[in-house]
Amino acid sequence: MAKHNDIHPVFSQILNRSDKEKLLNQHARVIWLTGFSGSGKTSIARNIEMELNKRGYLTQILDGDNVRTGINNDLGFTEKDRFENIRRISEVSKLFLDCGIICINSFISPTKNIRQMAMSIIGKKNFIEVYINAPIEVCEKRDTKGLYQKAREGKIKNFTGIDSPYQAPEQAYIELKTDELSIEESVAKSLKVILPIIEYK
Ligand code: ADX
Repeated sequence: MAKHNDIHPVFSQILNRSDKEKLLNQHARVIWLTGFSGSGKTSIARNIEMELNKRGYLTQILDGDNVRTGINNDLGFTEKDRFENIRRISEVSKLFLDCGIICINSFISPTKNIRQMAMSIIGKKNFIEVYINAPIEVCEKRDTKGLYQKAREGKIKNFTGIDSPYQAPEQAYIELKTDELSIEESVAKSLKVILPIIEYK
């Protein structure tokens, strides 16, 4: 017959982040891309993911496409909603980190406060801030999704860079001036910094 203490959990059998990082042969981090809509965040995130994948790294992209249509589909673009958007994303990222997976997050995350909150949830050591720096005029001219025009016409309110603020990071880990660099150059510059950090040691 089973004794009562047979059902106590055996803590030595609980797997932690470092067991999973060992299994995956990588160190997990959150690569956090901040910048205006149309600055190039999504393209850079996708290309970084492809390059890491080629080298055997397991990654997860979090962006508006998979977050604002799902877990955050109840949120809009007021300051309060953006804060909650980034808070939930940061908590989700923490779960990926615990699983040893590299997160590539692509969000406007417009204020220092918001990014500070993300960093404190995720942990400073785990957080690689990448400033995708393209002037607002350039992003508006690109207008890849036609949203700047709608914002100018007043059809979208609280649009970042038009009638909602963006505070540039002052000390980003990586800064990419996408009006000067090609996507390939931006990705190469990022990889130079990221690869030595995630390489399993
Ligand atoms: S954040 O401010 O909360 O970080 P997030 O990155 O999730 O924003 O979403 C930004 C994307 O939502 C933009 O790239 C754009 O496609 C779309 N969008 C819709 N309305 C707005 C708005 N008012 N301001 C900024 N982006 C908007």
